[in-house]
Amino acid sequence: MTIPEASEDAEALLRIAVAAAAEAGRLLASWRGDERPEVVQTKSSPTDIVTEMDRRSEALITGRIRARRPGDTVLGEEGGQTAGGPAGDGTGAGQPGRVRWIVDPLDGTVNYLYGLRDWAVSIAAEVDGTVVAGAVEVPRYGERFTAVAGQGAWLHRGEARLALRCSSDVPLGQALVGTGFGYDAGRRRIQGEVLAALLPYIRDIRRGGSAAVDLCSVAAGRLDAFYERGLNYWDFAAGGLIAREAGALVGGLAGRTESTSMAVAAGPGLYQQLETFLSNLNPERDAERSQGREA
Ligand code: IPD
Ligand code: CA
Ligand code: CA
Repeated sequence: MTIPEASEDAEALLRIAVAAAAEAGRLLASWRGDERPEVVQTKSSPTDIVTEMDRRSEALITGRIRARRPGDTVLGEEGGQTAGGPAGDGTGAGQPGRVRWIVDPLDGTVNYLYGLRDWAVSIAAEVDGTVVAGAVEVPRYGERFTAVAGQGAWLHRGEARLALRCSSDVPLGQALVGTGFGYDAGRRRIQGEVLAALLPYIRDIRRGGSAAVDLCSVAAGRLDAFYERGLNYWDFAAGGLIAREAGALVGGLAGRTESTSMAVAAGPGLYQQLETFLSNLNPERDAERSQGREA
């Protein structure tokens, strides 16, 4: 059987993502937690923090990607988007714009700061705007989740490699649902109202603190579903591919693709139930408030 060229590219990209994520994971895990890392910046709100370790992790990842593929674009949470220089490998594979790397150097910074275990390094590779490979490294559990588009999703633990499959045929009433909250107080108020309305109709809720880990948990059947409003692309680029490749539907409300507005992930039947339930609650209404349409 001939393996299509695109999948060879994606596997090569995945190897780069895995190597960079593993190294960044070791860097982050090397901080022993005797003292909290310094919070060097706040972003959208005083609770939206950046530590020196977020920055060091992203610098390491960007450096590793640039060393292997100098022509690629990198979108990192801390550094923004930077275009590469001329392709250095002579194959044209690194032409500016063709491959873009989406990097969350530390997803779950608050967990990391508090010594909780759910944090991850998330790296995805896009080819011509489509995510084709993703790696989520979860150092405190010794786990790595990977996926290549069209080739399934995997959990790697030591030398072991397990194919991932999301849960199936779980009705909403029995679903364990993960979610998260933004850093903006107004948005959180609405997120709390939506959660309060949903909670009586599901098994229970989990707020793990890392969207990348949450999406991998859907892939592994550890959560039946996940939804969150207000994520950034780097939060869900890799985890979204991993969940999708494990059989989950990943998208937004009303047939839209997953986005900052809303990301939902679940096995097909449950996805429809959760999406309908959430749509009826209008979870995106904080946008209307911030535009001044409500008091
Ligand atoms: C956050 C985590 C969290 C989610 C937030 C994200 P960060 O990412 O993924 O679970 O609820 O919306 O911003 O700030 O730790 O990289
Ligand atoms: Ca994040
Ligand atoms: Ca982050």
